[in-house]
Amino acid sequence: MRQPVGERIRVLIIDDVAETRENLRKLLSFDADIKVVGAAASGPEGIELAKQFQPHIVLMDINMPGMDGITATEVLLREVPTAQVVMLSVQGETDYLRRAMLAGARDYLTKPPSGDELMNTIRRVYETGKTRAAMIAPVQPAAHVTVPGEGRRALREGDIIAVFSPKGGAGCTTIAVNLAIALQQMVGSGQKVALMDTNLQFGDVGVMLNLQASRSIADLVPQIDDLDGDMLGSVLTPHGSGIKVLLAPPHPEAAESLLLSTSSDEGGGGNSALGAILRLMREEFNIIVVDMWSWIDDIALTVFDAAALIVLVVAPNIPAIKSARLFLEVAERLHYPMERIALVVNGVDRRLGIRVEQIEQAMIPVAVQIPLDERSAVAAANRGVPLIMRDRNRPISQSILRLAKYVCSKLSEAEEGEEEQGEAPAVVRETGGTGLLRLRQAFER
Ligand SMILES: Nc1ncnc2c1ncn2[C@@H]1O[C@H](COP(=O)(O)OP(=O)(O)O)[C@@H](O)[C@H]1O
Ligand SMILES: [Mg+2]
Repeated sequence: MRQPVGERIRVLIIDDVAETRENLRKLLSFDADIKVVGAAASGPEGIELAKQFQPHIVLMDINMPGMDGITATEVLLREVPTAQVVMLSVQGETDYLRRAMLAGARDYLTKPPSGDELMNTIRRVYETGKTRAAMIAPVQPAAHVTVPGEGRRALREGDIIAVFSPKGGAGCTTIAVNLAIALQQMVGSGQKVALMDTNLQFGDVGVMLNLQASRSIADLVPQIDDLDGDMLGSVLTPHGSGIKVLLAPPHPEAAESLLLSTSSDEGGGGNSALGAILRLMREEFNIIVVDMWSWIDDIALTVFDAAALIVLVVAPNIPAIKSARLFLEVAERLHYPMERIALVVNGVDRRLGIRVEQIEQAMIPVAVQIPLDERSAVAAANRGVPLIMRDRNRPISQSILRLAKYVCSKLSEAEEGEEEQGEAPAVVRETGGTGLLRLRQAFER
């Protein structure tokens, strides 16, 4: 896999130890496609060199005297946003690494890396960076897709994208996982994307991402009245793609604590524990993708109420369409605006099932169709490597990337509307009563 002539990967090394700098340089000199454009002994010096040489990749030591690698990463990415930072750390600096990822680092290597590790990581990070740049660039002028909230994000809370299907097995988890990663790749490391599993009893986001995590959403419950960013940070699990994941409890019985507990803080979303967690997630992240269970309960309603967009997943068969239509009816009664619902048909196969036009006739326009691809979907789930990370060129991955673009354009649309009207982007702005009681009342009206 050689780069075309002229496009060598420009690498900048930042490490306070001269020997490490030399070793890295030597290792990289064996690869004709990589060019070391500079080496710096400190964060500030590295930032200067980065401005000068515009490297594709920065190899950054995490632990340096003076400005440490995390701060240097933050500053560097502000100055040279096209750079991709790969952290270098010694074993046992996992907490540091978590912070480095939050600061925008793309990947990390444990010192001393082998030549193969080093080269493979640089290539992978370079390729992802290139794809992201290519994805955002051509879309912006044509379809007015801007990255939501860019520039004034600090003033605004994050957007919740609820991924829901009234039927189990429709592909919600698959879509939520891949959508979150695709969005992170699109918006870049300057913005934070989270994935949250609200399948409290049998959540499988962790398995799909092959995350061996000990902490989950249930660990927030005992501290629900004084939640803060640090606490949230300690229960989130970072994924190699750059997203942070708030996992479901490891055992079904732990779900109960979350269902029963309330928070004394009554903001939008009521006083449920989940409401409080969602509010905090919105403070800490720019985009939060929520994988939901196929059941409308208090948990689901809390998520819907907070959502900027509901991705409604439907399989192309009659029972699924019937249930999705019922859901649209519920949504209408709860005054969720239809333009905030994105209908996604998953598992489309020309040879069988119902045609997409027929689904549109029965429901609302289809935002994106995702092809049936059992081989890829099952292999991805079994290996714990999401589709778009395994093979982003397959049609199934491409359709998820289209969904990510669609979501981005919807969010910026909503944001523009919000600027005009000065309103919050949630689907429902007033909550009359809580949860299921509200649902019942909606149907009695
Ligand atoms: N487009 C698709 N083509 C083929 N199989 C799919 C597709 N999307 C999802 N699947 C498979 O369907 C099963 C259920 O998917 P999952 O995402 O767990 O659904 P849900 O979360 O809605 O229950 C999984 O085995 C998944 O790999
Ligand atoms: Mg699921």
